[in-house]
Amino acid sequence: MEISVDAYLLDSVNMLLRWAHIITGIAWIGASFYFVSLDNSLTPPKSPSDADKGVGGEQWGVHGGGFYHHQKYPVSPGYVPEQLHWSMWESYSTWLTGFALFTVLYLFNASTFLIDKTLFDWTPTAAIATALAFFVVFWVLYDLICRTLGRGPKGDRVVGACVFVLIVIASWLSCHLFAGRAAFLLVGAMVATTMSGNVFFWIIPGQRKCVAAIKAGQPVDPRHGQRGKQRSVHNTFFTLPVLFAMMSNHYGFTYGAQHNWVVLVAIMTAGALIRLSFALRHKALAYGQPVPWHYAGLGTVLLIATLWAIRPAPQPTSVATAPVRFIDVQAVVAQRCVLCHGPTLQSKNLRFDAPEEIIKHAQAIYQQVVVLRNMPMNNATHISDEERALIKRWFEAGAPPK
Ligand code: HEC
Repeated sequence: MEISVDAYLLDSVNMLLRWAHIITGIAWIGASFYFVSLDNSLTPPKSPSDADKGVGGEQWGVHGGGFYHHQKYPVSPGYVPEQLHWSMWESYSTWLTGFALFTVLYLFNASTFLIDKTLFDWTPTAAIATALAFFVVFWVLYDLICRTLGRGPKGDRVVGACVFVLIVIASWLSCHLFAGRAAFLLVGAMVATTMSGNVFFWIIPGQRKCVAAIKAGQPVDPRHGQRGKQRSVHNTFFTLPVLFAMMSNHYGFTYGAQHNWVVLVAIMTAGALIRLSFALRHKALAYGQPVPWHYAGLGTVLLIATLWAIRPAPQPTSVATAPVRFIDVQAVVAQRCVLCHGPTLQSKNLRFDAPEEIIKHAQAIYQQVVVLRNMPMNNATHISDEERALIKRWFEAGAPPK
């Protein structure tokens, strides 16, 4: 069966970008988790001479057959080492590939992927502009919260609470404006953009200022380090929530749930709680204390409770009816699917305008239409529950070709 060159090109670009995005994302999260674990497992230096040099903490590790001795100079080592390793391109390349992928997938196909007319009927241009505004507005508000409310002994908690409320509002708004699948991804991409913003606008510039001050023989302002630390801690708590949002498009029952914004907030919160236990685990192990697993426990309970709350209602077992005729199935497919899987458009390189193709893909059709209810995409073609039931009975009867 012939597939249009355009669709093939778009799918190839999609594949390459997604692969690059996963690779860079692994590099970024790997480095980030590693440094969080390193920083949290530091203990005061054993040797007084190290303490005199300005070492604030040290960690011994064993990996790949060798022993490593890390030392942290919280403010400055007094000189700039010749070989200084920076971590920034892991973050920038993750953002760049992610944004490109988002553009190829969601912005190029806004009317299919971004817009759900039954939810909010607007033009692709307005939807695209609003989606882009989510990135900018969230960053501006988040940054304002961090800069103005982060002071004082309770600063961290106030900032945490305000950022949480901001994410709840964004989730509500996104899920009321965009198709569920796009809405979840958008919230994830918005938080992820903020993570890269933290690296680009605060962490790296702060480090550059420290290096410049040391080179100029001037005292290093400790605020740069404190600010960088604040943003880096936020990034660690954002990581698992973002990862869930990124993979959520495989799980139609989450973004397709009735109050999908609550589902998103609950699962993201569970992710942050689980990450909290791991961040505290490093500290606890360094000082031989018990690991506070109760946060992870709470997160897990929240996850299970959410999945339980959105479980599908039991389906009435189909009463004995006349056997399904293939011609009826074909009629449903022609009316509800061929728009996007036919001569003009072959989404995912599938076209269902020939009977052999419907039969060949019976399993995938059943999976997408009956089990996951992902198709028709955003129910653009208004398939009815009776029609889904028809496909179900046809497939369960062995997908007969007559
Ligand atoms: C409005 C457009 C549209 C309609 C209508 C539509 N689809 Fe799709 N379909 C898509 C898009 C876009 C994809 C690719 C989704 C992706 O990349 O994750 C897709 C993917 C699929 C896939 C592959 C899923 C996978 O991840 O492997 C199947 C199977 C499918 N559709 C079946 C159907 C059936 C059956 C119908 C009719 C009941 C239907 N689609 C109606 C747009 C549509």
